[in-house]
Amino acid sequence: MAAAISTQRLVKHYGDVKAVDGVDLSVERGELYGFLGPNGAGKTTTISILSTMLKPTSGAASVAGFDVLTRPYDVRRRIGIVFQDPSLDEELTGRENMVFHARLYKVPRAQRDRRIDDLLAMVDLVDRQHSRVKEYSGGMRRRLELARGLLHDPEVLFLDEPTLGLDPQTRNHIWDYIRRLNQERGVTMMLTTHYMEEADALCHRIGIIDKGRIVAEGTPSDLKSQLGGDVVHVKVQAANGAVADALKALPFVRTVTAMNAGVQLEVQHGESAIPKVMDAVREAGGVVESISLKKPTLNDVFVKHTGREIREEDMDAQGRMRFFMRHRRR
Ligand SMILES: Nc1ncnc2c1ncn2[C@@H]1O[C@H](COP(=O)(O)OP(=O)(O)OP(=O)(O)O)[C@@H](O)[C@H]1O
Ligand SMILES: [Mg+2]
Repeated sequence: MAAAISTQRLVKHYGDVKAVDGVDLSVERGELYGFLGPNGAGKTTTISILSTMLKPTSGAASVAGFDVLTRPYDVRRRIGIVFQDPSLDEELTGRENMVFHARLYKVPRAQRDRRIDDLLAMVDLVDRQHSRVKEYSGGMRRRLELARGLLHDPEVLFLDEPTLGLDPQTRNHIWDYIRRLNQERGVTMMLTTHYMEEADALCHRIGIIDKGRIVAEGTPSDLKSQLGGDVVHVKVQAANGAVADALKALPFVRTVTAMNAGVQLEVQHGESAIPKVMDAVREAGGVVESISLKKPTLNDVFVKHTGREIREEDMDAQGRMRFFMRHRRR
């Protein structure tokens, strides 16, 4: 059977900006695929092309078996979209928003009320269905948008940053809905996120996108195990080439990646590596500001492929051991 979503050398340029720069995707039916990348990576642009709202500069794409350029109406009938920016009518109630959308998508009248009831129940909005959306919290709006995206029973659902800006508890609720939809209704899903732990927790497979290109792809556990070791992050004052060279020469160090104000190392047996790393930095004339150890996360995968962090705060999100050792200047 054909893939649910596929692209070949997909490109979208805005003037000089290469928003999407040759993306090849293949998402299976029933798969929950995560598109992970920093701000401006090209996630929304890709989703906009796949949902027929935007034409690519070049390349091809098909969704639910139909070409997005030659069969846009067949694609639209089979997809649901939850936009990155809220797109509900604030003045209408939650239920009225659902009815409006059902009419737009020509959901048969006989099924309409029943389906709206089911979906509102699924996202726990039955009690608040008659309140106006402007009285909803951010999490309630997100849940309503999710329910609305499912009204016409789509085969493929695109979720652009489904949990952006929500508190952790609400995020977890949304994750549950997404999982249930995928498991119980078999909806193929492509979601974008720049939350590492979201991609890790939800997705069967992840593509990491940076500057319009997919830099890594695989299951979360494959991606992490490709790193093949513990990760030591050293912040060094006055870092220079000599420090990196000294670290590269250590027998237990597998890779060294230079970053802003420091280096990231993949090592065997991180706990015993730490004192040796500190000695090596000092001997090479560097001053260790802090050093931390952790098991591989998707963030490390991202750093390895791009030399940058996706988002600073996500570094703290994973449970891990951490050492901070301050060293005074002599
Ligand atoms: N309509 C537009 N006109 C010009 N440039 C655009 C337009 N839309 C997007 N871009 C540029 O294309 C690049 C990719 O943007 P896109 O919105 O796809 O990123 P994203 O990965 O969704 O980012 P975010 O995480 O911030 O939502 C960015 O450099 C952006 O400035
Ligand atoms: Mg976006």
